[in-house]
Amino acid sequence: MKKLLITGGAGFIGSHVVRRFVSSYPDYRIYNLDKLTYAGNLENLRDVEKQSNYEFVKGDITDAAFIDALFAQHRFEGVIHLAAESHVDRSISNPLEFVMTNVVGTVNLLNAARKTWLNKETPVSGARFYHVSTDEVYGSLGEEGLFTEKTSYDPHSPYSASKASSDHFVRAYCDTYGLPAVISNCSNNYGSFHFPEKLIPLAIHNIKNKKPIPVYGKGENVRDWLFVEDHARAIDVIFHKGKNGETYNIGGNNEWKNIDLIRLLCEIMDRKLNRASGESAKLISFVLDRAGHDLRYAIDSSKLQNELGWKPSLRFEEGLEKTVEWYLANEAWLNNVTSGDYKKYYEGQYAKR
Ligand code: NAD
Ligand code: TYD
Repeated sequence: MKKLLITGGAGFIGSHVVRRFVSSYPDYRIYNLDKLTYAGNLENLRDVEKQSNYEFVKGDITDAAFIDALFAQHRFEGVIHLAAESHVDRSISNPLEFVMTNVVGTVNLLNAARKTWLNKETPVSGARFYHVSTDEVYGSLGEEGLFTEKTSYDPHSPYSASKASSDHFVRAYCDTYGLPAVISNCSNNYGSFHFPEKLIPLAIHNIKNKKPIPVYGKGENVRDWLFVEDHARAIDVIFHKGKNGETYNIGGNNEWKNIDLIRLLCEIMDRKLNRASGESAKLISFVLDRAGHDLRYAIDSSKLQNELGWKPSLRFEEGLEKTVEWYLANEAWLNNVTSGDYKKYYEGQYAKR
């Protein structure tokens, strides 16, 4: 069995990647390494946790000795690295935590992969390090243009600066040591199991509970939204068919101003909750803007589409409706996450490890 390490698999995107790989590749043994920070939730993986080709490992990527020992024990043949601190607002309050996890944690993984795969005595052939990154490393666009793989890096938030730094380290390990690695930079994701500090699940939660929907500034900022299962499928395609040393942009070709997105969401929620049309929109509340708020992100994913044959599968209106239905059908998940009760599920199980 091919041993594959997925980091951050208890988070939003990671849980979709783990689910996809565990069910699509019975000949892979999937190790999900996660520290279970506030964003990590094993409830996201209840449907796969008993599969015989799946194993959870609680651990911290900033702990170099632990990471080295894990690689020495398992000699993974592939790594898909998603573990990160991922929320821009938190990075503004606590940048150092982002440096530690996103930069130091990534370098620890690169070092362990290098020692395990590239040593002269017992090298591992055919291995690959896949670094999952964000379009935010490219900075902010004006009204026109798209980010391509050739766009210069210009990060503005501590989050995007830490991800940009980790991307540079991955490329440096490719060029300096010949580490077989690939990077993807994806636009904003949405879908099930999204932590409700991010715009879409936060708004769904607040609309449901008739609380104000905080819209930063005038709501004019634009994001390019992609359904999370389409991202997981892109990761599968790039992991198997991408070229080492290359970067692939992943995006939905689906730009929305925040305020227009929130208005659409309010209409969907009114219908689903049998509220009068326009009722949820009354909850929209314009609040102080985020510091350094990037105006517009938009991805050109033609390289991935033309070279590897991936394309997004869903229209946004369809994906957003599906997403709302999931949160309404999984009220317990949303309530557990917002109350903090989700931690109780695994505290007993893993606290003493
Ligand atoms: P998330 O915050 O939902 O999940 C992150 C996971 O990493 C959590 O399970 C957490 O417990 C784990 N983790 C954090 N620190 C750790 C540590 N020190 N050691 C081990 N595990 C740790 O994040 P997400 O939104 O699923 O994003 C996953 C990856 O995709 C990140 O690298 C992010 O930069 C990237 N990305 C996210 C988006 C998006 O829209 N969410 C878009 C593009 C790229
Ligand atoms: P977010 O989901 O935090 O993702 P990112 O900052 O990585 O793009 O935010 C998406 C957009 O929504 C971004 O322009 C900031 C804005 N936003 C709000 O207007 N209100 C909110 O409460 C949040 C969390 C975000």
